[in-house]
Amino acid sequence: MLPDADTESLLVRPCPDTKFGDYQTNALMGLAKARKLNPRQLATDVIAKLDVAEWCEPVEIAGAGFLNFRLKSVAVAQTLVGAERGEHLFFERTSKPRTTVVDFSSPNIAKPMHVGHIRSTILGDCLARTMRLLGHRVITDNHIGDWGTQFGKLLVGWKQNLDRAALQADPIREMERLYKAVNAACDADPAVLEAARQELVKLQSGNEENLAIWREMIALSQRQFDEIYGRLGVKFDHTLGESFYNPRLKAVVEDLRARGVARESEGALVVFFEEIPALKDHPAIVQKSDGAANYTTTDLATLEHRLQTWQPDEIVYVTDGRQQLHFQQLFAIFRRQHPSLATRLAHVWFGSILGEDGKPFKTRSGETVKLADLLDEAEERAFKVIAEKNPELPAERQREIARIIGLGAVKYADLLPNRQSDYIFSWDKMLALQGNTAPYLQYAYTRIQSIFRKGGVTSGATTEFHLVVPEEIALAKHLLNFGLSLEAVAAEHRPNYLCNYLYELAGHFARFYEACPVLKAADAERSTRLGLCNVTARVLKQGLDTLGIEVSDQM
Ligand code: ARG
Repeated sequence: MLPDADTESLLVRPCPDTKFGDYQTNALMGLAKARKLNPRQLATDVIAKLDVAEWCEPVEIAGAGFLNFRLKSVAVAQTLVGAERGEHLFFERTSKPRTTVVDFSSPNIAKPMHVGHIRSTILGDCLARTMRLLGHRVITDNHIGDWGTQFGKLLVGWKQNLDRAALQADPIREMERLYKAVNAACDADPAVLEAARQELVKLQSGNEENLAIWREMIALSQRQFDEIYGRLGVKFDHTLGESFYNPRLKAVVEDLRARGVARESEGALVVFFEEIPALKDHPAIVQKSDGAANYTTTDLATLEHRLQTWQPDEIVYVTDGRQQLHFQQLFAIFRRQHPSLATRLAHVWFGSILGEDGKPFKTRSGETVKLADLLDEAEERAFKVIAEKNPELPAERQREIARIIGLGAVKYADLLPNRQSDYIFSWDKMLALQGNTAPYLQYAYTRIQSIFRKGGVTSGATTEFHLVVPEEIALAKHLLNFGLSLEAVAAEHRPNYLCNYLYELAGHFARFYEACPVLKAADAERSTRLGLCNVTARVLKQGLDTLGIEVSDQM
């Protein structure tokens, strides 16, 4: 009817208030406005040609030209049958896979991973899982900080002051101790600072002894990082640290100079952004006056490598909000180097974790909280609750459930808030069985499993759904929106959409279960309800898995 309309952008969304329908679109209003047509007339014309009678009640026009759709119960039931048969789970794998590189976690060598890195790790992992589930090609890359000026100080400490036994016991703690001691000594004594500078120069110019120590520091740190990734269930396709790009830095700098993107300023090579208001006062140095490259140079080399190796449609960087300026500069430089490339670059940034006092989250003694300690505490707290609730379970089983609950609670608390706002870390809130928490969702799953156990029934046996009671219909219709929530997460890089979808799902399930007896119901009713239980459990499990959270049959 309007052959020039971009049908890909015509969004149909779930109605915020189901009084008016299940889905609505305001797309026609925009189309009418652009063509100076009467929107209600256009809507009438569109409806006349719209062939949706198979799955939809007659379409209604509302307000200035909204279209409201209400699904027919038979169509909803049909979709549920498909899910029950295992043909789909309310989402479609894309027919147009995109390639996305996700750069996340990226801790620094010889420093403990702290709570700041937890957000990047958990968010990045969830985004990668979501895009993969939707059928996209995802490449995860852990851009470890394994190069930089800190190694000068670390080398001084290592050579003069290393405690081998302590290094054996807890390598990162020992390296951190060395770094702090030398750092303090540098402030007091310029000779130490000079020694650190010389060690760094030796490392950078390929001195074998220093390189060997540096490699050992990396290996020891990586081992400890891997322990945490193992606990969190996070995997990377690649771990290409900053040092990997050293041989490519010169070429990057030369390219920028040759293309006229960067120019000499006070001995350094600098990119100026006169035409970008936000960056006008923030030129980016790409080579310091002593000839050294920096974080920006390395990231430019990283970008080139990723483009050449994977030809991505999109690169996503998950870091804390304090790196916004860095990524704005990086992306602006990239656009100038490659004006015709359509690669989408996204800085997915997040706010801070705060303590209950509203200040940056610290231990009682005022230190930054180490990730490993945080995870231990989560499991410990969950264990107390589980052991009290289920004293009859063997301790080993209690531990396993506590691990699932504790880690799930921490992850969910991190994924639930709008990522750009700071959030207050509260053990009591995140571990609560009521409210928008992981344990609440995990419990909903467990409850469904126990219905199946009690009834001695297996799932997947429902061949027909007769949706009658309003709570049945509301639950069923909400199930249908699972795919929309996944797509919203992938499009906007916001896992909180999926958290809220699952929380609402658990709410619909609770109301359904309250209103509708399942095992005591008879025949068709019982079969429909068992089917609803089954697909709800499967969506909860898949949804939580996409958040990186496990479920347990018992809790
Ligand atoms: N190592 C950095 C940090 O801990 C994060 C790196 C993020 N990725 C990147 N390509 N710059 O702050």
